[in-house]
Amino acid sequence: MNPSNPPQAAEYGGDEVSAIVLDPGYSTTRAGFAGEDAPKSLIPTYYGKYNVDGQEKLVYGDEIYVNPRPALSIHNPMGKDGIVEDWDMAEKVWEYSFTSRLLGTKPGNPFQNGLNDIPAEELPTEMEVETEEKPLADSPLLMTEPAWNPAKAREKTIEIAMEKWGTPAFYLARNGVLAAFASGKASGLVVDIGASNISITPVHDGMILKRGVQHSPLGGDYVSSQIRALFKKNSPQPITVTPHYLVSSKSPVEAGQPPQAKYRTFPADKAPDASYRALVEERTLSEFKECVVQVWPGPNKLSATGPTGASNEDMARSSPGRPFEFPDGYNQVFGVDRFRVVESLFDAKAAIPDPDSSVPAPTQAQTIPELIKASLGGVDVDIRPHLLSNVVVTGGSSLLYGFTDRLNHELQQLYPGPRVRISAPGNTAERRFGSWIGGSILASLGTFHQMWISKKEYEEHGANIVEKRCK
Ligand SMILES: Nc1ncnc2c1ncn2[C@@H]1O[C@H](COP(=O)(O)OP(=O)(O)OP(=O)(O)O)[C@@H](O)[C@H]1O
Ligand SMILES: [Mg+2]
Repeated sequence: MNPSNPPQAAEYGGDEVSAIVLDPGYSTTRAGFAGEDAPKSLIPTYYGKYNVDGQEKLVYGDEIYVNPRPALSIHNPMGKDGIVEDWDMAEKVWEYSFTSRLLGTKPGNPFQNGLNDIPAEELPTEMEVETEEKPLADSPLLMTEPAWNPAKAREKTIEIAMEKWGTPAFYLARNGVLAAFASGKASGLVVDIGASNISITPVHDGMILKRGVQHSPLGGDYVSSQIRALFKKNSPQPITVTPHYLVSSKSPVEAGQPPQAKYRTFPADKAPDASYRALVEERTLSEFKECVVQVWPGPNKLSATGPTGASNEDMARSSPGRPFEFPDGYNQVFGVDRFRVVESLFDAKAAIPDPDSSVPAPTQAQTIPELIKASLGGVDVDIRPHLLSNVVVTGGSSLLYGFTDRLNHELQQLYPGPRVRISAPGNTAERRFGSWIGGSILASLGTFHQMWISKKEYEEHGANIVEKRCK
């Protein structure tokens, strides 16, 4: 395959067996059949643990939200840097992502998946899906990884795929490269705003430029910690996020008035662990991010003075606020504060301090403009203009309202010369699943056949083959 040609729609599909594409992120794990336009399975990467009669039980998928069992605790097999920490549990969570929703059900016919529809009379006859002992004995597997995944982790991944899941063919692709493919590009600067991480990945001819890869922890979880910091110092009163399972009834109240709710309490020996409450609270914070939070669109920082002499803060203050109602009925209109909670992704000084938080204050070097500078600084001068005219925006947190406008202004300011062009799919699913979709396209290319690492090759060369073949 010549990686310098972006995948063409006409090349999709054609495989007799659908490969599975598995895209594990810190907040969610996405799995589905290659050639389809969205992952069929989307589960939290978190899992729950509790005890019954001294026996440890584990819960996966959306099940973790459902029942606040006594001492139920929530864990994540991935570390904050997006690299697996607990391999046994990563294997189980990932396996759940495809066994729970993909296997046992027939894959969608790859000729009718929205990407490459052909008339019904030309469809090949249905294929059989056999179930064998190892869950992927029939399915080639393409997995994604962050550009900074260490060699040990890459080897461990192919080991699990081959030995535990029995996949006949495997490939490991960088999620930045795949997000570029999903935008129809083989080269570009990929800006991924995820949950635990943000990253900048320069991609050239389908390969990452390693020296230009930058990442920092200012992702969606960081934004959530800023929202918590804001809630603590909110006026007219601090806001406590009370999750739904602790509210038994509520009455409507006026904006800014104390909630009128009846709360449910658990005796100490019946209560779930604090990590369960944090997980459920995060759902409310996510909703707040989607409905209220807004990125100051620029030009310039929120703290700067605009072209008319009025401060940007004043401009932000004069735009209509956004209301939000919490699970206990407390509601308020959020004004300029809704910009403040995200401003530090661009300007570290704007971070809302929170002395009780375990999240350290950001440094300027961790902000998006500085990461981009460092990233472009690490690649050949000649290709910088090409990267700047192919900026690909992906990841759930890039859906923050106003994000791409601000990014555009920041880039124009940093690089006034070359033409800056951002491609950011308007469709929410395409933005959230960029790397999965790129994997779906890649794995279903006819020309991808030669890229797979077969079981035989793995047996001959060992796990280290992943270093040689998946560059
Ligand atoms: N519409 C939205 N507005 C703002 N934030 C959003 C929106 N939708 C999702 N998010 C946030 O995006 C994050 C999830 O993004 P994504 O799925 O790209 O992360 P991930 O791949 O699981 O994590 P990582 O890339 O860090 O490993 C969450 O923090 C979520 O709150
Ligand atoms: Mg991600």
